[in-house]
Amino acid sequence: VNENTKEFNEAYRPQFHFSPPSQWMNDPNGMVYLDGEYHLFYQYYPDSTIWGPMHWGHAISEDMVHWEHMPVALFPDEFGYIFSGSAVVDHNNTSGLGTSENPAMVAIYTYHDPEGEKAKRDDYQTQGIAYSTDRGRTWTKHENNPILKNPGIKDFRDPKVSWVESNDGTGQWIMALAVLDRISFYSSPNLIDWAHESDFNPSWGAYGGVWECPDLFPLTTADGEVKWVLFVSINPGGPNGGSATQYFIGDFDGSNFNVESNEVKWLDYGADNYAGVTWSNIPKADGRKLMIGWMSNWLYANVVPTENWRSAMTVPRSLELIKKGNDFLVASKPIKELEKLRSSTETVKGENIALREELVELELIPKANDFSIEFSNAANEKVLISKKGDVLTFDRSQSGKMDFSGDFGKIHQAPIANEKIQSIRIFLDRSSLEIFVNGGELVLTEILFPNSPYNKVTLIGFENESKLHYLKSIW
Ligand code: FRU
Repeated sequence: VNENTKEFNEAYRPQFHFSPPSQWMNDPNGMVYLDGEYHLFYQYYPDSTIWGPMHWGHAISEDMVHWEHMPVALFPDEFGYIFSGSAVVDHNNTSGLGTSENPAMVAIYTYHDPEGEKAKRDDYQTQGIAYSTDRGRTWTKHENNPILKNPGIKDFRDPKVSWVESNDGTGQWIMALAVLDRISFYSSPNLIDWAHESDFNPSWGAYGGVWECPDLFPLTTADGEVKWVLFVSINPGGPNGGSATQYFIGDFDGSNFNVESNEVKWLDYGADNYAGVTWSNIPKADGRKLMIGWMSNWLYANVVPTENWRSAMTVPRSLELIKKGNDFLVASKPIKELEKLRSSTETVKGENIALREELVELELIPKANDFSIEFSNAANEKVLISKKGDVLTFDRSQSGKMDFSGDFGKIHQAPIANEKIQSIRIFLDRSSLEIFVNGGELVLTEILFPNSPYNKVTLIGFENESKLHYLKSIW
């Protein structure tokens, strides 16, 4: 069977989310856009459904919804496994690895040397680069690898690189790197030679073990105000246990990140959105800041009840900077390309709705301060989302299969305004639920393993104009 055209239809196989054809996947890596193609690389172990020696898997899409699976892009080599990182298109050929007519796509990733780890050396993670001059189809590792050596710190990984322009019109490459409990910034003129600029680790940041997978980028509010956002994934220590992504808002002067608001902010209050970072080289005319996250949690990722593959990505999201009083927040909206999946739309009438199909999008308008949404199935399994005052609760304690991990069947909570909410948008796939409150100002991404599809939804506290869309599978 050709894995590129196969229709994946196993139990729990996502029908409109990216998942690997088979075997183990974790973090999204190297997301980059070039010539009409969105690239997605990912942490991949092609020999097992549990984590092991990491490779970069690869897929290409024209809309970030329908993906073509590509051959493995990067294999482990003498310097180690290929851990997470990023990719950029070197349009100015600063690296000399392409030409200005045919710029190189350059991947910047972490080498994890298992021998060094075994020998208890502290410098077993380094950074390497690889490049492609055929639009990401084939890759060559750079002869100077590792291009960034380790100064003797155990955790030294997940480089996210972007081109940062200075006020004088010149620019340089900036790398955000997770270094144990801080984010280090490095600069380079050419992607090959890197100089340390600064470190960021405020004492009040959420820290439960390691900081991982940073991303640094500017966002502009609807009123034209620019702030720099720093994503930092942490594991454990998430607001509802295990892995989660926090973010900081501030300014970046080309060398230092200066944080403005001293408050931990979470990109997603659900248990299953980790290691998410943004796409590089999205054309200015598009203007969006696009991200995707790994839809799992290190608490149970290796034991979820799927058979021949493990894990999926979240739906791609577009990030927006929203000003609230004197503070800012980053909202995540499902990308508009997902609307193409809608096959039919109904206006919601009454509280009990029988679901005729399993792939569902709901656009709900709350009628009062409090509400509840319950998905259930013939096996009496259910998942409950409810708002009471200033707490949003997500209860998957009776949602289906849960015995694979004591950490899974928990009740999750998120802070919410004690007032009437404007809108709730929900995406239900075969084994996930994504909830976007008020245009993505509050998000919960959660995976689920019901023994039969949820075929009923009970809506309490919503207007009759609320909408139900059935969605097409991407296969
Ligand atoms: C995050 C992470 C990264 C690392 C990768 C290894 O989930 O731990 O820090 O590069 O996974 O697969």
